[in-house]
Amino acid sequence: MASQKNVGILAMEIYFPPTCIQQEVLEAHDGASKGKYTIGLGQDCMGFCTEVEDVISMSLTTVTSLLEKYKIDPKQIGRLEVGSETVIDKSKSIKTFLMQIFEKCGNTDIEGVDSTNACYGGTAALFNCVNWVESSSWDGRYGLVVCTDSAVYAEGPARPTGGAATIAMLIGTDAPITFESKFRGSHMSHAYDFYKPNLASEYPVVDGKLSQTCYLMALDSCYKRYCNKYEKLEGKQFSMDDADYFVFHSPYNKLVQKSFARLMFNDFLRNASSVDESAKEKLAPFSTLTGDESYASRDLEKATQQVAKSQYDVKVQPTTLIPKQVGNMYTASLYAAFASLIHNKHSTLDNKRVIMFSYGSGLSATMFSLRLREGQHPFSLSNIANVMNVAEKLKSRNEFPPEKFVEIMKLMEHRYGAKDFVTSKDCSLLSPGTYYLTEVDSMYRRFYAKKAVDKTIGTENGTLANGH
Ligand code: ACO
Repeated sequence: MASQKNVGILAMEIYFPPTCIQQEVLEAHDGASKGKYTIGLGQDCMGFCTEVEDVISMSLTTVTSLLEKYKIDPKQIGRLEVGSETVIDKSKSIKTFLMQIFEKCGNTDIEGVDSTNACYGGTAALFNCVNWVESSSWDGRYGLVVCTDSAVYAEGPARPTGGAATIAMLIGTDAPITFESKFRGSHMSHAYDFYKPNLASEYPVVDGKLSQTCYLMALDSCYKRYCNKYEKLEGKQFSMDDADYFVFHSPYNKLVQKSFARLMFNDFLRNASSVDESAKEKLAPFSTLTGDESYASRDLEKATQQVAKSQYDVKVQPTTLIPKQVGNMYTASLYAAFASLIHNKHSTLDNKRVIMFSYGSGLSATMFSLRLREGQHPFSLSNIANVMNVAEKLKSRNEFPPEKFVEIMKLMEHRYGAKDFVTSKDCSLLSPGTYYLTEVDSMYRRFYAKKAVDKTIGTENGTLANGH
């Protein structure tokens, strides 16, 4: 039994590139029918890295910012776990690049490496950190979890479902965001729905339709297991009424809408109290469908979405801001949706239960729940919202025309796995304090620099290794 109390997330920071493309503009450029990306996929905008940013620079930026803004001494970190599916090196972990921040403060005593399985790696990293703090090997210091990805797809139907971001989460005791660790349901199996077998390319191989079905099947299975565990331990039925918010891994918003509706269908089949008489009537014609038939039924999809709409607006919509604006951030996607909830609702979240659904193709999935309370400054929900400053970060982005976006994608294809090049070092669009890639040398070693921070607020104009 863990003696540590209220283990969970103490602090969060998010970073996404200041460069993006409007989905409406991309839709027209790609020759897709009007509304396909915006209404059909439910996306507004997509963030992407230019040639000066990557998962390592974004992680350096995010971790540095979290430590500075919450005034955490780097020596207080005892475990650092990274979740990512963006492969830059087949051996050297992203975590070791981040050690540059800690080494210069004399702290090399930090456990943890990278976790990889598509979009699930961040959840694996988070569980590792939480388990460490709850374990007998915990030494009293903080854990730090970093979820970082650049999601890019080849030209074609999957391209508008890209995105890029990093989230860092500080883990410790007496947290405002705690884990209800006993209530977890997982589903893991072998599937070829989305994978990256071509090590010469950053792009995945995707069976789009299969990935949607795998996601929904995993959701059903995790929800059933979550409910079973809850019911065994609490001695009463779990229904959607027992949770205040539902946060989903968000490749694109339409799948999130379908997922919430699918949970309602599950509650209907379980005869749970959350489904009222009029909803029962509308869903009754589908009660005899087999599992496979239910995934294929467009009528069921429509009926459940209609029945779930009013609850979706209350329990899911506040979680959708960043995923709709930035796109799929792979490992960071679920946590960016959770960050959206904190951004939108931080003053009213005390004692709320949040259900989280993490999905990584291939496939690994877990449903788990969090319990929130306001907490004490600096580890309070309102301060987390303040530090993340999501509205300002979204507002200050630069929209690129599609031609420029395509040109950047081509350059990144060329640069992926390459050596012996210097970047433009153009950091004019980056905020002060942002790290950027300057060079990959003939030994494939990567070098980064940090954009100068205004001297009047007393911070450095730093470089890492031989950057600018
Ligand atoms: N106006 C409004 N809606 C439209 C329009 C239009 N003009 N045109 C199409 N639509 C709708 C479609 O009806 C469909 O809606 P539906 O899902 O409710 O049926 C939606 O837009 C998408 O259209 P499709 O034709 O189904 O899209 P397509 O097959 O071309 O691509 C897909 C979508 C499969 C999601 C693709 O973008 C992809 O492969 N993405 C990557 C894989 C992915 O994200 N999978 C999710 C889980 S795995 C993971 O997280 C990576």
